[in-house]
Amino acid sequence: MRTDSFCGGLCEVKLQKAEGDRMLQGKTIILGVTGSIAAYKAANLASLLKKQHADVHVILTKNAMQFIGPVTFETLTGNKCLTDTFDRSHPFEVEHVELAKRADLALVAPATANVMAKLAHGLADDMLTTTMLACDCPRLIAPAMNTRMYENPATRDNELILKKYGWKVIQPAVGHLACGDTGKGKFPEESLIVGHVLNEIAFAKDMAGLRVLVTAGPTIEPIDPVRFLSNHSSGKMGYAIAHVCRMRGAEVTLVSGRTSLDAPVGVTVVPVDSAQEMFEAVTGRAGQQDMIIKAAAVADYRPAVVADEKVKKSDDELNIELERTQDILAWLGAHKGERQILCGFAMETEHMVEHAQEKLERKNLDLIAANNVKVAGAGFGTDTNVVTLIGAQGVQELALMSKEDVAVKLTDELLKIRAERISK
Ligand code: CTP
Repeated sequence: MRTDSFCGGLCEVKLQKAEGDRMLQGKTIILGVTGSIAAYKAANLASLLKKQHADVHVILTKNAMQFIGPVTFETLTGNKCLTDTFDRSHPFEVEHVELAKRADLALVAPATANVMAKLAHGLADDMLTTTMLACDCPRLIAPAMNTRMYENPATRDNELILKKYGWKVIQPAVGHLACGDTGKGKFPEESLIVGHVLNEIAFAKDMAGLRVLVTAGPTIEPIDPVRFLSNHSSGKMGYAIAHVCRMRGAEVTLVSGRTSLDAPVGVTVVPVDSAQEMFEAVTGRAGQQDMIIKAAAVADYRPAVVADEKVKKSDDELNIELERTQDILAWLGAHKGERQILCGFAMETEHMVEHAQEKLERKNLDLIAANNVKVAGAGFGTDTNVVTLIGAQGVQELALMSKEDVAVKLTDELLKIRAERISK
């Protein structure tokens, strides 16, 4: 009986996670692949876009087909590839301009020096360049080539022209290149390119112009050079909030304790260790923020004395004297700007709503997101959460959902509170 209900809970958690990966649902993306050795990596890129439920249409240049074939992309995307092979049965061979018209985003990845030159100068002599010339949606390009070709003044100029014409250039990475050289020109991680795509089209830009500070992860409080006190926070909730705010167009600063997570694309990360470091990083930036969302699990106590050398064991009991850390959120509440919106989190194990309501008032917050770590699918380390939003407008219980979906609901609520505040 116990096992059944436990398994049922886990299955539900998995289902909810899958639902969180639909950020490009309903979006049409053209992925142009050119003849760089990195062309094979575009298969993973197409697959990652598809996993976000995008409708992906791949155009391969003749040179790209020397490295990878259309069948790979057709299998991954479920759409016929556009190539320069004459094919009477394929409607897009004559109607590719229709695809350009309905695309939400065009992405050329990897882009060779040759295709950069052609796109910069409006040349349209194959399926890819013809289609790109007809696109007026957001356009991204990810150059990948030998460093010397990338640094060549002609390629530099072409990149500037592309930017002038509205292309956003995803900078290549620095590293060991296929030709044996080391330098700038490497195809960036596919997940990073997807991050750029999400920032462009996943959400309406209803947070544009807003500066948002988010905190995430645990703090660590040193005992001696070897040991510290900390907690189980993975940082996933705070990172999801920072990511969603960025996708909605905000300028986001993420003050983060130590986590194993990748920084969301386009978010400024300020790494910290201790509660005191987080206090300084947050309070030093608070005055410039329209919204502050404190998802970090901050230590309430730290060792009163940090030993300079490793504490050696003895047969006696060891007592460590602890002293209080600053309550960052309480400080923010006491110094809140007139139009600033302040949101805290409350992690409880009992009397969740009462405790969270008390924190909302005591810390002068506009909203508090309460969760009970004992509920399946909520709290530390999971990809899901079960959250109750509490504010002046009342108590809103959210179902079990992915942390990204919680972040969307939370930011929806904060935008409502801000709109009311401004209309007063
Ligand atoms: N918080 C903070 N600084 C601290 C402790 C907590 O900014 N020193 C913030 C957390 O980031 C969170 C909120 O306060 O947004 C609530 O944290 P929580 O640990 O649930 O509550 P506490 O206020 O620490 O109260 P208690 O430990 O008694 O539940």
